[in-house]
Amino acid sequence: MFFSVAEFYCTYRFLPSWLRPIHIYIRSRFNNSRHSQTKEARDFAILSCMPNKNELLNQPIEHIDIKQHDVRTLVDAMQAMAYSSRDLARAATIYERMLRDQECGVILCLAGSLISAGLKQIFVDLVRNNMVDAIVSTGANIVDQDFFEALGFRHYIAGDEFKSGMQDGVLRELMIDRIYDTFIDEEELRICDETTQIIADSLPTRPHSSREFIRAMGAYLEKQGKTPLKGGADSIVLAAYQKDVPIFCPAFSDCSAGFGLVAHQHARQDKPKVSIDSVKDFYELTQLKIANPTTGLLMIGGGVPKNFAQDIVVAADVLGTDAPMHKYAIQITVADVRDGALSSSTLKEASSWGKVDTAYEQMVYSEATLALPLIAGYAYHQRAYAERKERRWARLLEPVTA
Ligand SMILES: NC(=O)c1ccc[n+]([C@@H]2O[C@H](COP(=O)([O-])OP(=O)(O)OC[C@H]3O[C@@H](n4cnc5c(N)ncnc54)[C@H](O)[C@@H]3O)[C@@H](O)[C@H]2O)c1
Repeated sequence: MFFSVAEFYCTYRFLPSWLRPIHIYIRSRFNNSRHSQTKEARDFAILSCMPNKNELLNQPIEHIDIKQHDVRTLVDAMQAMAYSSRDLARAATIYERMLRDQECGVILCLAGSLISAGLKQIFVDLVRNNMVDAIVSTGANIVDQDFFEALGFRHYIAGDEFKSGMQDGVLRELMIDRIYDTFIDEEELRICDETTQIIADSLPTRPHSSREFIRAMGAYLEKQGKTPLKGGADSIVLAAYQKDVPIFCPAFSDCSAGFGLVAHQHARQDKPKVSIDSVKDFYELTQLKIANPTTGLLMIGGGVPKNFAQDIVVAADVLGTDAPMHKYAIQITVADVRDGALSSSTLKEASSWGKVDTAYEQMVYSEATLALPLIAGYAYHQRAYAERKERRWARLLEPVTA
């Protein structure tokens, strides 16, 4: 006879502590001896000393607030140092410069797992203070992490003992997902998937850009009262909705929304359905470049957002507009240039493709949770945004028909 780890745990967790060793003993006796050295047996042993799910998900990730930390003297001091500190200080001054350039539209690019890591409030502050005019992101950041938190859920700190991955099988049984040193409740993530299906069901059955869909997510949050004014958490999706900052996720199905959309399409079978048109995303973002030729990129990580935002210079050319290369560009990354991949490619390399100008570009080789609070905090406390007008680019795109 063999018991599943889940069954074992369900029984175990409700037992008084003095009965638990007896329970483990009986289970191991009645289990087939061939299993005694198996992974399941090891998981039993781990479970027997594990805290329960509520105990594991009890210390939320807190988002850093750049408004509370004036980092200007620190970053200024880094300018006279070497290596990554000097690169970072230069990136901070380039970001300040692009904000002071009244002609410049700022595009923020997000890859990696940034919101779950405590960077959400920075992006919310950039949106609310007119320090960014459009966002290109992975779906994970915008849906699985930001929208997820907007629904009222949190990310949690995982103890060091979980980083090795030795206990991932047990976490799976508890429906806890792990991102390195961070936990997510998989059951809550499924509510996020289902919510995107509800939103898909409410939209006209036609192809939508991801921007249109994410705007509908912002409207949903407002309608459901999931706003700071009504006691909810602030979020990038809500702030961008309220400030008419368009958000594009060119690979939108590759995240929680993908599960919602696949369920929506499956339920509708042969009936008309909502779909995502990534060409429409590209067309819309290119329209912004054409309308506002001077642009700057603030890129966190690489991936699809980096290439998508860079490519609009070429796309504008394809559409018959001689748009200038991105005038300013910063990339924070840990990627290694030796693999020849897009994520690791330098901004100088991008200039050979006619995408990025070389006068004001800076690579910062750093993990983003270290570098971004300094770069964004510097520009914020320099009040580089004070003279900037909000662009409300989403309004420009509403009448777009691709
Ligand atoms: N990240 C997740 O946990 C997650 C979850 C669900 C779905 N996805 C999907 O997977 C796809 C690929 O995601 P991706 O583009 O984030 O891939 P990725 O994680 O490979 O990141 C792309 C690049 O960004 C750099 N990077 C990532 N995090 C960084 C950090 N903290 N600091 C500095 N550099 C960093 C990496 O070095 C890499 O070169 C997307 O479609 C996304 O929606 C991701």
